[in-house]
Amino acid sequence: MGESIVQKILSQHVADGSVVPGQEIGLVIDQCLTQDSTGTMAWLEFEVLDLERVQAPLVVSYNDHTSLAFKGESSDDHMFLQTSASHFGALYSKAGNGVCHQLQYERFAVPGKTLLGSDSHTPTCGSLAMMAIGAGGMDVAVAMGGGFFYMTVPKVIKVELTGRLPWGSSAKDVILHLLREISVKGGVGFILEYDGPGVETLSIPERATITNMGAETGATTSIFPSDEVTHDFMTAQGRGDQWKPLCADPDAVYDKVIHIDLSQMRPLVAMTGMPDNVKDMIEVAGTHLDQVYIGSCTNGSYRDLQIAAKLLKGRHVAPTLDCIVSPGSRQAEQMLLQDGSIETFIEAGVRVIEPGCNACIGIGFVPGNGHLSLRTVNRNWVGRGGTNKGYLALSSVETAVASAIAGCIADPSKLPQVSYEERPYVIDTLLFLEPEGPKVAIRRSPNIVAIKPQKPMGDRLTGRVLLKVADGISTDDILPAGPLTQHLRSNLPAIAQFVFHYQDPTFAKRAAEAGGGFIVGGENYGQGSSREHAALGPWQLGIKAVLARSFARIHCSNLVNAGILPLQCDTGDIDQEDELIIELSNLSPGKPMRVENRTKGRQMDATPILTKRQAEIVQSGGLLAYTRQRHG
Ligand code: F3S
Repeated sequence: MGESIVQKILSQHVADGSVVPGQEIGLVIDQCLTQDSTGTMAWLEFEVLDLERVQAPLVVSYNDHTSLAFKGESSDDHMFLQTSASHFGALYSKAGNGVCHQLQYERFAVPGKTLLGSDSHTPTCGSLAMMAIGAGGMDVAVAMGGGFFYMTVPKVIKVELTGRLPWGSSAKDVILHLLREISVKGGVGFILEYDGPGVETLSIPERATITNMGAETGATTSIFPSDEVTHDFMTAQGRGDQWKPLCADPDAVYDKVIHIDLSQMRPLVAMTGMPDNVKDMIEVAGTHLDQVYIGSCTNGSYRDLQIAAKLLKGRHVAPTLDCIVSPGSRQAEQMLLQDGSIETFIEAGVRVIEPGCNACIGIGFVPGNGHLSLRTVNRNWVGRGGTNKGYLALSSVETAVASAIAGCIADPSKLPQVSYEERPYVIDTLLFLEPEGPKVAIRRSPNIVAIKPQKPMGDRLTGRVLLKVADGISTDDILPAGPLTQHLRSNLPAIAQFVFHYQDPTFAKRAAEAGGGFIVGGENYGQGSSREHAALGPWQLGIKAVLARSFARIHCSNLVNAGILPLQCDTGDIDQEDELIIELSNLSPGKPMRVENRTKGRQMDATPILTKRQAEIVQSGGLLAYTRQRHG
């Protein structure tokens, strides 16, 4: 029986266990990435491991999320990141260089290799046939130190592409279409592997849009074959010698197959709330807009922005809205300067922002009260744009430009067709800093706070349910990003005060007064960003277990790594303020355990979502305590 791409890469990298779906394996990691939102904590965690330097062959520490340091604390974070990377042997990508995922696929992605990143959109590098997985900072810290990355082997969905995209439709519409088909939970427990004759019609930036936003389906990652398109892209980036072909065997067997005929794609828009709240253009055309934002790690490539400039040439942004463009990388920015696109943007009334994340997480360009912002980004949760009073919708670059011109959501296929023209890539690595080693002193401000020690869990958990929340709670709901908290990423005691800030602003105070307790959630608890602060914040406040109907993959691992027990159960019978007792003496992976609800005088079954190794981690108090115990 032949192998899929996924099976080929996993079997070449497995170091512990067997590549059998549902079983836990330890993988050798070739490359690691962190960014400034998660990176400060990852470096603080790396320090706890007490190693002299990083051990993974390539580690890149990016500064992209809060590159426009809006508070001094962020500049302090940047200096801590830069000096930590240099001290411990990692590359550092300075502010203004661009978004981690785009830079990683431009400069470093290699077919057949593994990448672990402390960002949920790390799968973007699957566009170059890389096994690229998002994880919490603690997992990345361990992998930076040369430790294996443990995960449960996912099943594989083959996404068979046929046909060619028609004018007006784009790769973004393909992934929005898939999200509508399978929902934000449809990829959970799976890897999406693309195949079929339609693959060769898609450029690397288009593939990157699809693998990037595959994260929104809950999939572990997404991956394309490495073919001539990959070869040409890597050669154009000056890295042709790193290319190798990689595709599935013709008789590879998959757990599921989804067919997508690219020629049938039409412009789509994900309206506010969830990335799978996808509507046909006919349903939403004419909806008033207050903002349009073009860029991000999903649609900030030179290819995308050249198309945007061509569509805007000789036209203007509607006077009723604001429009910004933020290139995904400095390479894209330099090429847009060379080809005159930046001039076109300015003439069209577009504001050009530096390469980076910034507005994508609400650092600037925050929508106003009741305003609707159309964005080419990947997430539209309430609160994602830096406020819970303004709303976000998601679309392709083509739809965003047509809408910016019209002042309302508009169909791009009605604009005259333009097409992308290849140009030589600008290769300028000025803002990547090589490490200098231990002679570099790590600079810490008072806002860089070491994390408290992880302590063993004990035999029994007792406490009250401090909060009960609905289905689909995202990590943005648990710990909001944006101007509220972005400057406190390296200060856990301070950022923990914002846990569930929009859900219940009294939560942190109540948790502190109660000395900790429990959280009860619904379906897909912890979906969205890989933000481990959404686990570390509750841990800092003394949360001992989260009981939910189901958990999102990365967040579930982050809970375990933080030493919080994830328990799956029917939460319908539990209310806020109920007092629970959970006996841990028979804690065993996948085996239901008794939870006593003292308030209701009942007992119920709850299943710990743990492997054997994770059960040991939780009992040790968390991944750092566990790793130190095992490796001295
Ligand atoms: Fe940055 Fe937004 Fe992507 S925060 S990493 S551009 S999802």
